[in-house]
Amino acid sequence: MNGFPKDFIWGVACASYQCEGAWDEDGKGPNIWDDFCHDTAGNHIYNGENGDVACDSYHRYREDVALMKRFGIRAYRFSVSWARVIPDGDGEVNEKGLAYYDNLVNALLEAGIQPLMTLYHWDLPSALQDKGGWLNRDIVAAFGRYTRILAQRFRGRVRNYMTINEPQCVTVLGYGNGEHAPGLKMSDYSLAKIYHNICLAHSEAQRQIKAVDPQALVGIVPCGRLCYPEQDTPENREAAYQATFDLSRGWAFTFNIVLDSLIHRSYDPTAPQAVRDFAASIPASDWERMEAPDYIGINVYQGDMVDREGCFVPRYSGFPMTAFKWGVTPEVMRYGPQNLYRRYGLPMVITENGLSCNDRVYLDGKVHDLDRIDFLHRYLLQLKRGIEEGAPVKGYLQWSFLDNFEWGRGYSERFGMIYVDYRTLERTPKDSAHWYRQVIESNGGNL
Ligand code: NOJ
Repeated sequence: MNGFPKDFIWGVACASYQCEGAWDEDGKGPNIWDDFCHDTAGNHIYNGENGDVACDSYHRYREDVALMKRFGIRAYRFSVSWARVIPDGDGEVNEKGLAYYDNLVNALLEAGIQPLMTLYHWDLPSALQDKGGWLNRDIVAAFGRYTRILAQRFRGRVRNYMTINEPQCVTVLGYGNGEHAPGLKMSDYSLAKIYHNICLAHSEAQRQIKAVDPQALVGIVPCGRLCYPEQDTPENREAAYQATFDLSRGWAFTFNIVLDSLIHRSYDPTAPQAVRDFAASIPASDWERMEAPDYIGINVYQGDMVDREGCFVPRYSGFPMTAFKWGVTPEVMRYGPQNLYRRYGLPMVITENGLSCNDRVYLDGKVHDLDRIDFLHRYLLQLKRGIEEGAPVKGYLQWSFLDNFEWGRGYSERFGMIYVDYRTLERTPKDSAHWYRQVIESNGGNL
């Protein structure tokens, strides 16, 4: 195949807590990110910042959708704030909260932009966390009910859902090292249990969506270590493949800890003892409930280079870095999807790719983000090669359309193609937005 397929989906992505604001309006309940940020004594967030206002997309979504249309965006991946729709997570439905997503979806459809709905992007209703959050298996039923309410409401308008964004960050950062909400530090055994509950919740949500709309597509968006070979030889490719999925090199931040459960209905034997101990307690009936997604969403930022012996290759001094100090490793876009396809055999969508830059408004009033253009260009060229070499990647979503709230880093990391002045909330398109429009118009032909 030559380059990007004809019906390739080109879009952008964001998430509720990172852009909506309106944290306590129109009946929305509190969620764990509201609580985590408001606990300023805990010093969790850069500069004591929070998502109370963020980009104010709750009030400015029309302007945002109009900007997307202007820049030729074909699909928008957004997430629903669970506590906006069901304030305590499992009780009464908040009609005003649902109405916001109704309006957003309608505005997208009118603009000819396909809505891609993520059901959970980290903002768990606080009332559910009070009952144990993802460690409490009751969350499976609550997530299923919430999903069904959305699927029924959006039947015929939303045809593509992603259940859970980055279960690895939910688990490791939220419950393992406490860097993210709810800020807990639990044992490996508990983390394994959380992963299992997440897999059951994904499966329940998938069944609920399919019961309402059998044609709708359902994906999940895991993340983890993605390795690429130092040299493009068969031995080195094999070593990169093995290193990607080897749980003995660090188990919790891997794709397979989630995808093996959902797709292979088993755990990899290279898992550490605590994980195998937990796995031994799983009843057979749980495995029968696992649902393989229709596609895998992959968020691609940086990868690890591996030599032909399978050892990680240290980055040299002066290695290219983003403003966040993440490595610029475009090759991960070529080999990452191929390795996931080899293990799981499912189609994929790049559900996030991007970088933060030290963007600012220049004297001429514009934002010249050449670093972003160069980065995205490099990654897209490698994605094209990966597709040509057989990886069935169906779409690409840039992270993120607007600058937004970057979790523990607050507003200090700018990932957007649209600059946001957080004092006035004014939006200024960066050069990359103009560049991306041309990429989309030419279906990647201009790369
Ligand atoms: C992945 C997460 O899904 C998203 O919320 C975050 O902003 C980006 N990575 C960048 O860190």
